[in-house]
Amino acid sequence: MRNESSGGHPRWAGTAAERAVELLSPGTALAEEPYAAWAEPARQELRGLLRRARHVLAGAAQATGDADLAARVAADAIADDPLDEGAHRLFMSACAAAGERAKALEAYARLSSRLAEELGTDPAPDTQDLYLAILRQRRPGDLGRPDGELARPGARDTGSRYPARAPDATAALRGLVGRDRELAELTAAWVKAAGGEPGVVLVVGEAGIGKTRLAEALAAEAASAGAMVLRSRCYETERSLFLQPVVEALLPAVTGLAAVELRQLLGDDAPPFAVLVPEAAAVLGPMPADRAPVDMQRRRTFHSVLAFLRALAARNPVLLLVDDLQFAGQSTIEFVHYLGRHLRGARMLTMATVRAENADVGAALAAVAGRVEVGPLGPEAVGQLASRAGQAALADRILRQAHGHTLFVVEVLQALAEGDTGPPESLRSAVQARARRLGTLAEQLLRMAAVLGAVVDPVMVAAMAGTPPAAALTQCELALQARLLVAAGRDFEFANDLIREALYATTPEPTRLAYHRRAADLMTSQPESLARHAAACGDWQRAARALLSAAGQAFRRFAVTDSAALATQAFEAAERAGDPEVGARARVLRGRAHEAMAALPAALADFSEGAAAARAAGDRRLEMLALRELGGDVPVASGMPIGYCESHLAQGLRLAELLGDQAAAADLLAPGNRGDQPAAIRSRPRLRPARSGSGPGRLRRARTRGWPGRAQDRSCLPGPYRRAGYGAR
Ligand SMILES: Nc1ncnc2c1ncn2[C@@H]1O[C@H](COP(=O)(O)OP(=O)(O)O)[C@@H](O)[C@H]1O
Ligand SMILES: [Mg+2]
Repeated sequence: MRNESSGGHPRWAGTAAERAVELLSPGTALAEEPYAAWAEPARQELRGLLRRARHVLAGAAQATGDADLAARVAADAIADDPLDEGAHRLFMSACAAAGERAKALEAYARLSSRLAEELGTDPAPDTQDLYLAILRQRRPGDLGRPDGELARPGARDTGSRYPARAPDATAALRGLVGRDRELAELTAAWVKAAGGEPGVVLVVGEAGIGKTRLAEALAAEAASAGAMVLRSRCYETERSLFLQPVVEALLPAVTGLAAVELRQLLGDDAPPFAVLVPEAAAVLGPMPADRAPVDMQRRRTFHSVLAFLRALAARNPVLLLVDDLQFAGQSTIEFVHYLGRHLRGARMLTMATVRAENADVGAALAAVAGRVEVGPLGPEAVGQLASRAGQAALADRILRQAHGHTLFVVEVLQALAEGDTGPPESLRSAVQARARRLGTLAEQLLRMAAVLGAVVDPVMVAAMAGTPPAAALTQCELALQARLLVAAGRDFEFANDLIREALYATTPEPTRLAYHRRAADLMTSQPESLARHAAACGDWQRAARALLSAAGQAFRRFAVTDSAALATQAFEAAERAGDPEVGARARVLRGRAHEAMAALPAALADFSEGAAAARAAGDRRLEMLALRELGGDVPVASGMPIGYCESHLAQGLRLAELLGDQAAAADLLAPGNRGDQPAAIRSRPRLRPARSGSGPGRLRRARTRGWPGRAQDRSCLPGPYRRAGYGAR
């Protein structure tokens, strides 16, 4: 029999090999001697011959265009020997030639994890090359022609805080221990996605366990295979910014495209996309303003991002990595859910890391996302890390003490390397000792930074400490070398949140409070951050106001769910501060957010409690505004009797007249143009009583002219109400 490297004609080789396969297949040769020990060496030899015959046959079938036969024969060979790399290559090529890329890539993933598990090795370079070629292939048969038109992320400095670093696979994988199973699961999800079966996968585990590192390892693999990797991270104090993590992730892709490409890629989706991503607006030029209702604008925005990602994925497979999803605003989680449902056919994987204790995120995405659980490192992995750090003798002790908690193990080893005499008691003491070794100034700046948040902006830290920015920068660089900080785009960040928490917790309370007060003074332009610092030092009044302002900001940017949540926090803070006025405002604002979410009963309750609270607080203007709502769309769409609306409008009108506010009075008679709402809400169809006569009598007359009738006509209701079935009696 000639082997596959022979130069013979494939058809002849195929015929001969087919016959050989028939003769050698299990159940034919030596079948009558199944248990005889003497037969074993012969059987081994036969297996080797069969394997070669199958390789030849599959190769010949492929060469003569019979991809089906090639795949079948190669699959038989794989079934006999799951580590047969030659058979895998034949199978992958055959599938790719038949247009079944997903199958080909899946086979590679299975081989790769099996090799790692059983032999601790990677697939051979030939197999890897084939995998990359299939991954990059656009059309079947296009093997080996990678399409690299789109610049790799990170190729330019985009100004993004989290520019996609162009990770080099070996660097990210170097030093990674004990994560074969997890990496194999992620790789399988990625391979499927890259083959056109998109997915969402959550990397779940406790803080410091190694989620980010694992996700980065997959990102590095994907990037080295030519994928476009888009990344971002969520921060606790950015919930009011609509889709902020998504916007950040898109930036390198947006700025990497020429204006004409971007326009072409977005098509009709350009206007909402430009509203969301200012960098795109700058390139695309002026766009017509969208005056649609808030929920429709939100949907258009989602759709535009989806369209953009789809277009990117048509060029190169896309991996979207969102780190720390537990900190994301609701709008971002809703968007991930949306991606999970609408990406069909796109070569894209969305991977998000989530802290295990934030079960609500996992629950919210359960229907669309797979999960990869990350647990503590096993004894072998800890042993590997310890011996790499020259501390093999301490491996058992560290394992017992740290219970395999990855960050603790890493920090203990680092502390020992820096001169600690024995393993530190706890993660906290390890981190504290390491910060102390950097010197007094660095330690102080790190503690201030720990109060400020996860991002370490040297200019802000310098402002807090009253030192020149250059000095703060030098200290940040020291901390970077000590790996307490990492570089993230334009800023530094704590290498892990637990490091920040350790520094925070070990800072004496009076010092910490002083830092919070100072931070609140410095953060007037970031209401969510300001609120956090004010609350931390017990200044509830300031916190309530800042939260109210953050809720308003979120509302104006369509992040309505986040707006409602922030308004609730504002309300609670106002209660603690004993500030009924801010509490009442928070109620009314939350009512509007609920209205935009089509949560009508909640909106009605908020407006009604808001009106009462405003009255109790003596805030007549706010009471008037709430009364206007109680005579408007929400009660009508909730099916309240018309008398309910009338009496509230009449009360509102009385207040307007009392306040001498003619504009408000006119508006109460024709609630159409609310200057305090986004254009989106202002411009939607409203239920208008007819303008005639004056005083409450006008309202009665308006009623006889049929505006309650319009309430029954659902076509005049804003979209969410119609869909929710409101207004139908
Ligand atoms: N499998 C691993 N092998 C080696 N080091 C790891 C591994 N996983 C995590 N680390 C290191 O442990 C620390 C914490 O990991 P990280 O990914 O930041 O945790 P998480 O994101 O879960 O909070 C980092 O210094 C990281 O480099
Ligand atoms: Mg992390």
